[in-house]
Amino acid sequence: MPPPVRFDRVEGIGVVTLDNPPVNAFSLSQRIGVKEALTNGLQDPDILAFVICGSGRMFSAGADIREFDTGVAAESPTLPELISLIEDSPKPVVCALHGTAVGGGCELSLACHSRVAVTGTRIGLPEVTLGIVPGAGGTQRLPRLIGVLPALDAIVSGKPMIAERALELGLIDGLTDDSDELLKTSVSVARRLAIEPGPPHKTRDRNSQLLKVRDRPELFDEFRSRIARRARGFEAPFACIDCVEAATTMPFEQGLAFEREVFLRCRSSDQSLAQRHAFFAEREARKVSGLGPETPQLDIRCAAVLGCGTMGSGIAMCFVNAGIPVIVIESEQGMLDRGMEMIRKNYTSTVSKGRMTEEEAEARLTLIEPTLEFERVSEADIVVEAVFEDMDLKKKIFTRLDALCRAEAILATNTSSLDVNTIAAVTGRPEQVVGTHFFSPANVMRLVEIVRGHQTSPEVIATVLTLSKRLGKVGVVVGVCDSFAANRMLYPYSRQAQFLIEEGAFPEQVDRVIQDFGFPMGPFALSDLAGIDVGWRVRQHREHSRPKHLRYSAIGDRLYEMGRYGQKTSKGWYQYEEGSRIPIPDPDVVDLVLATSKELEIDRREISDEEILQRCLYPLINEGARILEEGIAQRASDLDVVWLYGFGFPRYRGGPMFYADSLGLRHVYEVMQNFYEIHQDWLEPAPLLERFAREDRTFAEWDAK
Ligand code: 3HC
Ligand code: NAI
Repeated sequence: MPPPVRFDRVEGIGVVTLDNPPVNAFSLSQRIGVKEALTNGLQDPDILAFVICGSGRMFSAGADIREFDTGVAAESPTLPELISLIEDSPKPVVCALHGTAVGGGCELSLACHSRVAVTGTRIGLPEVTLGIVPGAGGTQRLPRLIGVLPALDAIVSGKPMIAERALELGLIDGLTDDSDELLKTSVSVARRLAIEPGPPHKTRDRNSQLLKVRDRPELFDEFRSRIARRARGFEAPFACIDCVEAATTMPFEQGLAFEREVFLRCRSSDQSLAQRHAFFAEREARKVSGLGPETPQLDIRCAAVLGCGTMGSGIAMCFVNAGIPVIVIESEQGMLDRGMEMIRKNYTSTVSKGRMTEEEAEARLTLIEPTLEFERVSEADIVVEAVFEDMDLKKKIFTRLDALCRAEAILATNTSSLDVNTIAAVTGRPEQVVGTHFFSPANVMRLVEIVRGHQTSPEVIATVLTLSKRLGKVGVVVGVCDSFAANRMLYPYSRQAQFLIEEGAFPEQVDRVIQDFGFPMGPFALSDLAGIDVGWRVRQHREHSRPKHLRYSAIGDRLYEMGRYGQKTSKGWYQYEEGSRIPIPDPDVVDLVLATSKELEIDRREISDEEILQRCLYPLINEGARILEEGIAQRASDLDVVWLYGFGFPRYRGGPMFYADSLGLRHVYEVMQNFYEIHQDWLEPAPLLERFAREDRTFAEWDAK
């Protein structure tokens, strides 16, 4: 292994270059390398000052997260030790930032005596997203540099800022447009600092920003209430606020010790374990069997979307938001106008919320070309079909696409349940056909299930994976089966929720339990949001073709027949006041639920919150085990990603399969078996779950095989 740090001399300046691909993470060897370089340089009278910079794509992604679980992170020099060495250095240290400088990488820069960055560099402290606080002085130094409120915003949101903003706030001292100039500029800053009289200025001694809020101790509680809804259930955001508050109430050393203690406590918490799992799961999902860095990819410069309804309009926005021009094709002018109006309204609302300028919205709209001419598909590198969920219609469309599209074009379907192989089979190029299952609303939800047909080529899968990242989405590859992974796991969850209200619960109780677990909303509120009519249409196809010995809850159908379609009609499982999205329990639904139980001759019983949670969650985990065994998903952690991004599974619980591991598969199996004995029906434990429970194994072990 080449050493992860290089040392060079440039005009009397010691240049320390981090060289630890792919992200210059501060592993033990990199920490040792930097310490050695600085120690040697400090002893060398010919070295006047230092520049620390990064090689490759970025400055640094921070501490090496993989070392958290092995204990190596605690080996000396630890990151805080290294950072103190830098701050205390009698020779000035300048940090040269490019690409990304986050976490411990950013913290190291904060302790340097000056910071210079290339325009566009992303700088920040994303630790909170891993369930921890910055643990190398970030919560103490950042407020000293940029002020308490901007520091709170940055640390608690975890969102990096671009260098231009960092300059405005005083996080960095200089900016260069030209990355080739970064080293030269930094060396000249270092030379200037070296001749200044006295020791270099330390960030820890800067207290003027802290003094500005001395009379406003209440601002921290205000901040806590401000994030209470957004951060519900998460521990780390509140721990971050505690640390920044400590910066204003304690002397530097004591604040630092406080931060370290909180960091170590968070790092060993279940939440951080789960959030770190989520981080790596997302990255693992990009590694797909049969694909490698050598797999060629197609260049996507222009897209076409077929159908401008609910999904097509959202998908078109995804493309133009990423700067890819899109041709939107409809069969009728009225539908086309309606779809374009939806898109326009969406952008107008974004502008009114101050998240986009009018010019930006206009620029995006000009990238969308609405048309009724189907033949225009011939111009596209990828066509995403989003017409009605009807196999005959999709077959007709794909036959036409095959005749009209360029030979190398990707033909994608947004079907949510139909067989991608059957669709591919009507074309002469099944290797170019793939499922791209976006979630509604497509311009907001980040999950895309990439459905790999039997013949879909590795090039097409690789291209669509890269494309999803470009669209700001998280792509997860799954195989062909009825409803793929996400919805297939959702059905048992919603189904049990409905059985529970037949047996004795009410929608608001089920939703409360699920929300308390950490989901943004429960299954009934979700059904009202998605549309009871949409669920009804899906059930016509799937539940009515189910094996007849399996139960079916018809309450949702009754609501549909009553014209209660959910939020769109202000009545569904709940009632809604004009213009409000807040669900209010509805006595008519209570009557319907009671009447249904009576009709089914069910003696309603008190149902505990624990049973509700287990009856909703364990069957979906059980279905996940079947999906794994059938090879529909490559790994259990892929299913976690699907649930984190498709349905808002609480990130601090890592995803359903990780959660099941944390409970123990033996427990999950025993509870499922018990439910099965009582209710029979859909609740039979999956063979894989049973086997793993017996062998005391975990889904993580399945992934590691
Ligand atoms: N430690 C260990 N491995 C890391 C890492 C880190 N901090 N950051 C990224 N990696 C790994 C990834 O797992 C991936 O590995 P793989 O190729 O084996 O899957 C590889 O580096 C490349 O990462 P990405 O695919 O994510 O590369 P991108 O270019 O898409 O993104 C990034 C780059 C924005 C830097 C992104 O990797 C990222 O967000 N990294 C984590 C940043 C972070 O949270 N830093 C805080 C760490 S904790 C800390 O510093 C504690 C301190 O306060 C004491
Ligand atoms: P929709 O009914 O809102 O829109 C379909 C559009 O396709 C209509 O505007 C229609 O005029 C147009 N269309 C029909 N035939 C056409 C043709 N020959 N050429 C061009 N346009 C044509 O349907 P929605 O909800 O957008 O669904 C589209 C697809 O996405 C379906 O396959 C559905 O299963 C899937 N899907 C839907 C989700 C949802 O929540 N609505 C979620 C994920 C996938």
